[in-house]
Amino acid sequence: MTNKSTKSVYLETFGCQMNELDSELVAGSLGALGYQFTSQADQADIVLYNTCSVRERAEQKVWSRLGEMKVRKNNQPDLVVGVLGCMAERDGKDLIARMPVVDLMCGPAELDKLPELLDNAVRTKSSLAVNDPEIAIRRSAKQVALQGNASRRSSTLAAAGDSLESLDLGRMISPVDFDGRRSAYVRITRGCNKFCTYCVVPHTRGAEIHRPPQHIIDEIKALADTGIIEITLLGQTVNHYRFEHDSAVTLDGIVQPQKGRTYKGSHNRDAFAGANTTTFADLLYRIHEEVPQIKRLRFLTSYPRDFGDDVLQVIRDCPRICRFIHVPAQTGSNRMLKMMNRGHNIEEYDEFIGRCNEFLHQPEIGRPLMLGGDIIVGFPTETEEDHELTKQLLIRSRYKNCFIFKYSPRPGTVSYDKIPDDIPDAVKKRRNNELLMIQTDISDSIAQDQIGGEFDIFVEGLSRHEHKKRGTDVKPGSGMVGITIGGAEPQAQIAVLDAEIQGPTVQLSGRTDGDLIVFFDVPAVGLQSPNDYIGKIVRAKINAADKLTLAGELV
Ligand code: SAH
Ligand code: SF4
Ligand code: F3S
Repeated sequence: MTNKSTKSVYLETFGCQMNELDSELVAGSLGALGYQFTSQADQADIVLYNTCSVRERAEQKVWSRLGEMKVRKNNQPDLVVGVLGCMAERDGKDLIARMPVVDLMCGPAELDKLPELLDNAVRTKSSLAVNDPEIAIRRSAKQVALQGNASRRSSTLAAAGDSLESLDLGRMISPVDFDGRRSAYVRITRGCNKFCTYCVVPHTRGAEIHRPPQHIIDEIKALADTGIIEITLLGQTVNHYRFEHDSAVTLDGIVQPQKGRTYKGSHNRDAFAGANTTTFADLLYRIHEEVPQIKRLRFLTSYPRDFGDDVLQVIRDCPRICRFIHVPAQTGSNRMLKMMNRGHNIEEYDEFIGRCNEFLHQPEIGRPLMLGGDIIVGFPTETEEDHELTKQLLIRSRYKNCFIFKYSPRPGTVSYDKIPDDIPDAVKKRRNNELLMIQTDISDSIAQDQIGGEFDIFVEGLSRHEHKKRGTDVKPGSGMVGITIGGAEPQAQIAVLDAEIQGPTVQLSGRTDGDLIVFFDVPAVGLQSPNDYIGKIVRAKINAADKLTLAGELV
């Protein structure tokens, strides 16, 4: 147990990479204030869940955790339980009404206020004697910071009052203990303005705000100084990144005209260019040139519209920018796309995929382009014909991997309010499985295509197989934050690597720049310890492929 003055925190993260980053930043800011982190929920004084609201299932997991905390609080009344993130924002105070065990709620756009909320929550609990008559009232005093109605301020006003920037910048003042990590996320854009009809994100994360490019670059430099060599830039629609340097807001909130900004057309080169604007292409180029210590530059997620040739040219011409584009289509049917309010049609999507391949698919120099996607099945009124169109889309797009989700109606969204969820679950399931089977075959065939090729592999850690062998399998999302990247194995150092090893080799796992997973063996004992490979880039030749993973040997 910890001593009285040091509170220990258990922080568990659900949801997307944006949440993983938020958790890391929160851990950094609380750590700087003296809180200590534990991976054992049952030993913590404070239990925080950083939650996701994107599908109902994501919320159910948190409800069940909160149920467990209710039981525990009977024995440990001083326990502080907090719900952070998208579910806090979406449910609002209803969540506390339903789950009084929750002491603290903090939306994703308010996380800079968390230290203060937490301090209040802890002091409320611990300063009171057990017999204090006020105890019941005080103990039920809740600490809440949600955006609520402020969430839909215009982007410009939101940017003017963007106190959250301090959370991201805090990383440079009190960097988290990277402990062997070589990979990190960096936010470029907060929020989303697209309002796809099924999606909670614009409601939970608020208006789109682009971070100043200099802040992003300084942050990446600081991360590079700690040994990070892989950066993934995060935003809901990263290619919409666009920072207007002369943007000015008058006291009454009126935006001043942009000096020198030229808008030259829809999706072609220099669409947003202008002397005073940093576009996504500009940003990628600047990072690549100004921080060469970053050996791998990635970005998530791309939006299939407004993705100019300028970005594709930068990716093609900059060797350290990865050839992987995650660009969800959601469906292959124009009718569905319209109902989803995606703002693009399938012809435009296909055109974009074609353009990506034209610019970036270069297997002859060992740099094939890999694409990733997301699909929603069973959106209201989806017919077998719509479903057939989605199958065709999968076959045409040839994603390396594609996440397929069953439509989940989310309160507060347009589709929840206006369109009944009329596709039975059994039909959603069947369609989901059909798409999965098609995708598995495609992934398999892409993997087979790589046999004989040579790739740079960024080594992440022990392979799953090796973990199993050692009984050290670590569940993603459990305990301390920021150590899993996209669900990959933690990149911490291998703990036991000598006499206890079974066998003469150790199997490690890494990724190509196209994000393909590669397993390869290294000698357990030798000139280089297996630990020495982790976090480095090695060259390997692929000699086998099994479904989604490749097996290689060092060359
Ligand atoms: N900004 C990204 C996606 C963020 S949400 C983009 O636009 O591509 C991640 C994925 O969750 C989405 O791509 C979508 O496929 C899925 N998703 C979002 N809301 C959903 C819902 N209500 N039901 C099922 N899947 C959903
Ligand atoms: Fe959601 Fe659409 Fe925004 Fe993606 S672009 S976060 S799916 S609203
Ligand atoms: Fe979930 Fe919020 Fe991310 S809803 S997917 S945690 S932006």
